[in-house]
Amino acid sequence: MTLLDPVWTSLLYLAAAVFFILALRGLSSPRTARRGNLIGAFGALLAVVTVFLSARLDNIPWIIGAIAVGTAVAAPVARRVKMTQMPQLVALFNGVGGGAAALVALLELSHTGDPWVRLAIVFTLLVGAVSFAGSGVTFAKLQELMTTRPVVFPGLPVVMAAVLLAAVGAGVAVVLTGSLPLAVLLMVLGLAAGALLVLPVGGADVPIVISLLNAFTGLAVAASGVVLGNVLLVVAGTLVGASGTILTRAMAAAMGRSVAGILFGAFKGGSTAGSTAVSERPVRSSSAEDVAVLLGYAQRVIIVPGYGLAVAQGQHTAAELALALEARGIEVDFAIHPVAGRMPGHMNVLLAEANVPYESLKEMGEINSEFRTADVVLVVGANDVVNPAAKTSSGSPIYGMPILEVAEARQVIFLKRSMRPGFAGIENDLLYEPQTSLLFGDAKDSLAKVLGAVKAL
Ligand code: TAP
Repeated sequence: MTLLDPVWTSLLYLAAAVFFILALRGLSSPRTARRGNLIGAFGALLAVVTVFLSARLDNIPWIIGAIAVGTAVAAPVARRVKMTQMPQLVALFNGVGGGAAALVALLELSHTGDPWVRLAIVFTLLVGAVSFAGSGVTFAKLQELMTTRPVVFPGLPVVMAAVLLAAVGAGVAVVLTGSLPLAVLLMVLGLAAGALLVLPVGGADVPIVISLLNAFTGLAVAASGVVLGNVLLVVAGTLVGASGTILTRAMAAAMGRSVAGILFGAFKGGSTAGSTAVSERPVRSSSAEDVAVLLGYAQRVIIVPGYGLAVAQGQHTAAELALALEARGIEVDFAIHPVAGRMPGHMNVLLAEANVPYESLKEMGEINSEFRTADVVLVVGANDVVNPAAKTSSGSPIYGMPILEVAEARQVIFLKRSMRPGFAGIENDLLYEPQTSLLFGDAKDSLAKVLGAVKAL
């Protein structure tokens, strides 16, 4: 006996699916993202409650215990995680989603003799296991539990091909026989394939792979919906699969790379991480007072935020500086590169937190033609996204990535702590150009000093 009949169950699932779609719509703009997130969470809660009210569940204490343990572990982690660690948190959550789908599929194998359902089980097992292991490796890379550089060894393509062939063989055998040991073998092969897929990916490409694995998890969940006969899982999994695929392509395009190049480039021996050698060429360093004079007597200032601003948590001071300059009649905008920082929308989230108006955040396509009219560009903790090597140096790991054209401005000021390069590990020739000066120090401290000096002008 269940509390909900099938019609009500379907209606509530439909409502949850609509909430998921509205959530994605909300997440497409920084202005509505917070609400979108809440709508999605509500949809998920509705789906879980509907399952409890509509299915005849065994082992309810175990299920509630598992939910309690999951909540007790995940909620504090999600609360405490630093914004800059968000990509690895997403990788972790995403991986356990794929792993859970694979385990559910494994358990369902003994409940069916239908070859089509077994086919869905095989798909879920393989893709879920790939996503679990792949996400685990990306987490370890981003958390620096292992090297972030590509890990390759001789014969890797052959090993990968052998694992995939064996997986196909095991998959066909599971569809034909329903054998549990072979299904377990398939899962192990999936885990190996996931790890082998991600190990050769390095540096800036790792977050793109997170997004790709996210799409994989979506597909695994959708297939587990077929296994369980649950339409909502099919809908939710397909939404995740589609949005993950779109995000993967968008991130790859923003870095001027192809998804195939990212996944298989390293198999061919190509590395995405450059050298971290720093040259001895002279640079022009400035004081906060000099920078304040340049800014305070400009007409047009463009601020380029990057990863370093996030690390320093300097967004509030940057917003205050923009206000102080605007109070002097100076036009100030923030130029947002699509992959500035370490995750999609990183700079938008950071600056929204500091109440910078959305109108002042200009996307790359919109602002690039305006640098030539800017008197001063203030680059705060950004490096790769303004590095001209992306246009000029064909051997560079960022070659082909569209950049913010800050070199066009009359004056360029970098706020950074040292001459160390950015994420891609390559030198930035712009630092040595005659129109460039550097104010060394933590971005937040430097911004505060410049702000104080601007106010004193
Ligand atoms: P980066 O090129 O990584 O440069 C960051 C700069 O900030 C460095 O030059 C560093 O120099 C400086 N910095 C670090 N901590 C600082 C602090 N506390 N105070 C002041 N400066 C500090 O950053 P970017 O220009 O934002 O480019 C992002 C990179 O990440 C790109 O290569 C992109 O491909 C990659 N990436 C982006 C994403 C997404 S989706 N956004 C995902 C993965 C990878 P010092 O050490 O000298 O201070």
